Amino acid sequence: MNFNFQNTSARTIYNLINGLVAPRPIALITSLSVNGQLNAAPFSAYNYLCINPPIIGVGIAAKPESEDGIKDTARNIETQKEFVVNVVTEDMAQAMNICGIDFPSRINELEKAGFSTEISTVVHVPRIKEAHAALECRLYEMIHLGQSRIILGEVVAAFVEDQYIDSQGPYVLAEDLHSIGRMNGLDNYVHTRDAFLKIKRLNYKEWIEYSRMPHES
Ligand SMILES: Cc1cc2nc3c(=O)[nH]c(=O)nc-3n(C[C@H](O)[C@H](O)[C@H](O)COP(=O)(O)O)c2cc1C
Repeated sequence: MNFNFQNTSARTIYNLINGLVAPRPIALITSLSVNGQLNAAPFSAYNYLCINPPIIGVGIAAKPESEDGIKDTARNIETQKEFVVNVVTEDMAQAMNICGIDFPSRINELEKAGFSTEISTVVHVPRIKEAHAALECRLYEMIHLGQSRIILGEVVAAFVEDQYIDSQGPYVLAEDLHSIGRMNGLDNYVHTRDAFLKIKRLNYKEWIEYSRMPHES
């Protein structure tokens, strides 16, 4: 099937992009309102964009039914300029889903989901205690694109539980962390347990050697 987006509904575009740009990591973002109200919500329009400076990007859709038309997370980051990305792992999946419910702004999703908090090291926004890893971020830039907002966040600190760090690198022991990813708009997720595929990255010299070796067709 071909879809020309000039005459495709917004819902279909969402369904297609959600299913084709997958799996996506999930950022469970904690943020604070001007009144100090803690908020948490999951976002899978999320990835890291560059390392120097260390920037992550998050896409936040509009919320037409709210007073100012935006989600709490976007409003909090716009006013407070700080947030924490809590890495979502298998053991947090159900609670993460509760944080995705469109609760009224006065409700603390963390309490409803049964999460507790831990102070962060650099930003004022707490991280989720049950999350095995988290990125502390400061707002670098907020881009208004139509009704949506794209948040560029500079990562100013990272937390990883010791057991998930291989001190040689240091590398993240992703095989043990068991992060989950979002797959499409049909409530499908992917878990990464036992799903690792090791493919050595080749440089040009290695590729020449590799290309000369006999391969099974
Ligand atoms: C796994 C998952 C991923 C989501 N990803 C996004 C996203 O990338 N962008 C977005 O605007 N909403 C996304 N949502 C919906 C928000 O989490 C939801 O609108 C939430 O209520 C926003 O909360 P807030 O108003 O407290 O910020 C996602 C929901 C789930 C469950």
